[in-house]
Amino acid sequence: MTTINYVILAAGKGTRMRSAKPKVLHRLAGRSMLQHVVTAVDALGESKKIIVTGHGAPLVEEQFDDVNTLFVQQKEQLGTAHAVQMALPALCDDAVVVVLYGDVPLIRPATIKRLLQVVGDKSIGLLTITLDDPQGYGRIVRNSTGAITSIVEQKDASSEQLTINEVNTGVLALSAKQLRQWLPKIDNNNAQGEYYLTDLIALAVQADVAVLSVNPETAAEVEGVNSRLQLSQLERTFQRQRALRLMESGTTLADPARFDVRGELVAGTDNFIDINCIFEGTVTIGNNVTIGPNCCIINSSIGDGAQIKANTIIEESVVGDQSIVGPFARLRPGTTLGCNAKVGNFVETKKVIVGDGSKINHLSYVGDAQLGENVNIGAGTITCNYDGVNKHKTLLGDGVFVGSNSTLVAPIQINQGGFVAAGSTVTTAVPADSLAVGRAKQRNIDGWRRPVKNNRDK
Ligand code: UD1
Ligand code: CA
Repeated sequence: MTTINYVILAAGKGTRMRSAKPKVLHRLAGRSMLQHVVTAVDALGESKKIIVTGHGAPLVEEQFDDVNTLFVQQKEQLGTAHAVQMALPALCDDAVVVVLYGDVPLIRPATIKRLLQVVGDKSIGLLTITLDDPQGYGRIVRNSTGAITSIVEQKDASSEQLTINEVNTGVLALSAKQLRQWLPKIDNNNAQGEYYLTDLIALAVQADVAVLSVNPETAAEVEGVNSRLQLSQLERTFQRQRALRLMESGTTLADPARFDVRGELVAGTDNFIDINCIFEGTVTIGNNVTIGPNCCIINSSIGDGAQIKANTIIEESVVGDQSIVGPFARLRPGTTLGCNAKVGNFVETKKVIVGDGSKINHLSYVGDAQLGENVNIGAGTITCNYDGVNKHKTLLGDGVFVGSNSTLVAPIQINQGGFVAAGSTVTTAVPADSLAVGRAKQRNIDGWRRPVKNNRDK
């Protein structure tokens, strides 16, 4: 098996981003652009990655702490050939090297694989694409037989060469041996005074090595990001691809243009997702799930037939089959709802297990608690889980009924069938099937008179 080494160029400043952050750390679909490239490479198996850093090098390095990743610094950005030169000492002698750009985030593993397939002793692989508007890119020059002979940069091209529509994407693959032979021969005698990696192509041809082109499946794969506008455009392209895939697999989207996945969304069939929903991290959705508008679901799973109503936020939680959540509910980390459970508007939950058929329908905070089955939590109930220093648990047995506006001071246990009168402050355990009344007794005052308006201070 061939050893593959990936060299990822990430030294550029990204002046047009107007940012203190290195360009490759700007995020697309919730992950840095460089992370996208690294993920694509990792999908092809374990291999050495050499990231060439420059601007903001320490910031980049601290984000990619991985045994298979090595960083080399390019102190001055003298061109793409110079950048790859920095990586030479780190390459394995017998490796095939793939050069990728940290600011070209949507490259697909399958494309890299096809590029690798054309690399041999007498051939190198070059990823090219034909564009309607080739402006700014290096042009691919071919001879009368159609063989690639060189790449000429926009600023060095003749007016005839400028009409060529096939351009260099920057991605190429060749043996480390060849790279070591040819790189030192590249000079900076050109319009930009830079060491061009693209000069490698003519050197290969001189050495009788064929330059074989491979094309990506879509243009988005090789699109680079130089500005925040381009970043936003590529984000939309990416999200549209995600939306299409989801619809193809059986989920209806109210509007594929108002849908965002920032991570991995796995969904069954016959789901409906309304507009402006955001899915972050790893989210799993069963079948026949309805998600209302403006929901944000993060690292959670939603069971079959569940309904998530408008403006609900669900984070690191599990929603059981047929449960109904929202509108305006907030499930914080550690919330697990059983089947047929209900969490309604303006309810906040945290680290709570809610049994099958239990309901917290209105205006409540329930944290650090365990609810059995068919528990009913009245409007405005608060679990007082925090004594200012420590957190304590609230345990509610099956069939417990908590009246509205109650405060449950933890640690507290209400046993099976226990009933809390509305407006109670419960501080001691409630035995099974008992009624707890924890409020001041009502007094009615006979002959009381309403105050009357005082006319003197008019
Ligand atoms: C390069 C190619 C061009 C191709 C285009 C595709 C060369 C000479 N030209 O041009 O043929 O069509 O990409 O987008 O290679 N970088 C470094 N160190 C450097 C210089 C660049 O790390 O010293 C990195 C940049 O951060 C960037 C990438 O290399 O990620 C490309 O550099 P850039 O200056 O944008 O090259 P282009 O002029 O776009
Ligand atoms: Ca560029």
